[in-house]
Amino acid sequence: MKKQLITSALPCVNGLPHLGHMVGCFLPSDVYARWLRQKGAEVLYICGTDEHGTTSEIAAAKEGVSVEDYCQTYHDLHAKIYKGFNLSFDYFGRSSSDQNKEITYRIFHALDANGFIKEKTTQQVYSPDDGRYLPDSYVIGTCPYCGYDRAKGDQCENCTKVLDPVDLINPKSALSGSTHIEIRETKHLFLELPKLEKELEEWIETKKGIWPDIAYSIAKKWLKEGLQERSITRDLKWGFSVPKEGLEDKVFYVWFDAPIGYIGITKQWADEQPTERSWEDWWLKPEDVTYTEFMGKDNIPFHTISFPATLCGTRENWKQVDFLKGMNYLNFAGGKFSKSAHRGIFADDALTEFPADYWRYWLIANAPETGDSMFSFEHFATTINKDLNDVLGNFINRVLKMTTHHFGAVIPAMGPTTAHETELYQTLDTLVQNYIHLMDRLELRKAMSTLREIWVSGNNYIAKTEPWKVVKTDPAYAGTILATALHLIRLFAELNRPIMPETADKMLAILNLKPEPVWTVKPMSSYLTELPAHSSFNPSDPLFQKISPERVQELKLKYKEVEA
Ligand code: 2FM
Ligand code: ZN
Repeated sequence: MKKQLITSALPCVNGLPHLGHMVGCFLPSDVYARWLRQKGAEVLYICGTDEHGTTSEIAAAKEGVSVEDYCQTYHDLHAKIYKGFNLSFDYFGRSSSDQNKEITYRIFHALDANGFIKEKTTQQVYSPDDGRYLPDSYVIGTCPYCGYDRAKGDQCENCTKVLDPVDLINPKSALSGSTHIEIRETKHLFLELPKLEKELEEWIETKKGIWPDIAYSIAKKWLKEGLQERSITRDLKWGFSVPKEGLEDKVFYVWFDAPIGYIGITKQWADEQPTERSWEDWWLKPEDVTYTEFMGKDNIPFHTISFPATLCGTRENWKQVDFLKGMNYLNFAGGKFSKSAHRGIFADDALTEFPADYWRYWLIANAPETGDSMFSFEHFATTINKDLNDVLGNFINRVLKMTTHHFGAVIPAMGPTTAHETELYQTLDTLVQNYIHLMDRLELRKAMSTLREIWVSGNNYIAKTEPWKVVKTDPAYAGTILATALHLIRLFAELNRPIMPETADKMLAILNLKPEPVWTVKPMSSYLTELPAHSSFNPSDPLFQKISPERVQELKLKYKEVEA
């Protein structure tokens, strides 16, 4: 299997992730990385904090600390939260690293040498009251496209249009709130996207029917509107200073160096073990690398147009994305996620309420793949109670209890099988193949409903064969049924592993097994008869707890899904 490069959109260092961010890129990319590793691929899974830009400067100023200290503190906080969710990054780096600076400069110089960088005198928003230029999110105003009245100068979060601060209607300073705004002239560098338009168009066309519709259609929409020259520099202090005469007091725009951060962070990873690791093997002319990117829909234009164009214009053979998994938004039933208003579940809060696997399962099973989806505690509780407790958990409990009761805590001997087992093997052969196909194609919601069907098939088998009755008349066949069911626990653990890694480990530990480094699916007739008879297992406490209606009410109030 080829080398698999996976990147998750780099979270802005300021602002902690909520459930929408978790499902937008981090969890699906982790599930995919785990899935591919389990199938034996050589995976490199990269993420890190996106640190430059106005938002970090503003947030640091608000906290009264230097922007460097601010970024370090929040980088560490992000890393801790993702660890709590068991995200299995090979490296969680920083876009502000020296390595990223080096690669950003290299790419910039190549673009400049190839004639894709243009210097232009531009109009910028200047605030006399703040005594400075106000780039990007330093300006707030009304979006000229959709009328949203809190649009930031760089992008409208309502309609996702990329903006120029001078376009905003009724602009005001995000720093002082001043509406005394002047437009001043200053020099900036632009990436000449129109010169690369044709190449990009041809490349995007090769993704038709391959990328999810949301990614392909957003890219097409941009191309149809015609590409504009994009400014890649800003009047800020925090960032990589522009290595060009007369512009040294400016820095690169955050969206220029952030995606290059995927490469810079790979170099951070490689620099830790330079004799064994090479970042070039993953990024420069890698015939044997498949590259998959994960992101929320607002990030799609940057990853389908500006970043590919940036790489393309160097005329070096940088790896371009092969598959782009773009997600819609996950909304919160109580309104917009807001840490300061204590509304909605943020990733750090989530882990104080329930184990990571509950969230991982719910979020992947309800991923906003084809449209926006909604989180409510009612729905969350229903899903956890039904799918994890009544279907999966109940199956495991019943099998362990019945076996312990009739045979002791050992795997009973497999005797001759009957039509029931043949039917089970056939059902599972089909379902497991479907599951593999859906996971490979990153159709996550459908994969989860197939996984649920797989668990249900275990309960159906027990209900049909009734081992509690059979044991009275044919103990040997009752042993076969329960041994088959114990094998199912092992199968379910392997299939659950990318989604619920902790639960999967617990399920395997019940059987005194460890995850196989590489899992290859076999015909069920052999897979479900493999475990040695009479080997012991560990009866366990239930793996999941139900969420009561009272708890749901408490959570709804606590996280402002309903008003107190
Ligand atoms: O929208 C965001 O959260 C950005 N920080 C994503 C950057 S992705 C990549 F380009 F780094
Ligand atoms: Zn808008």
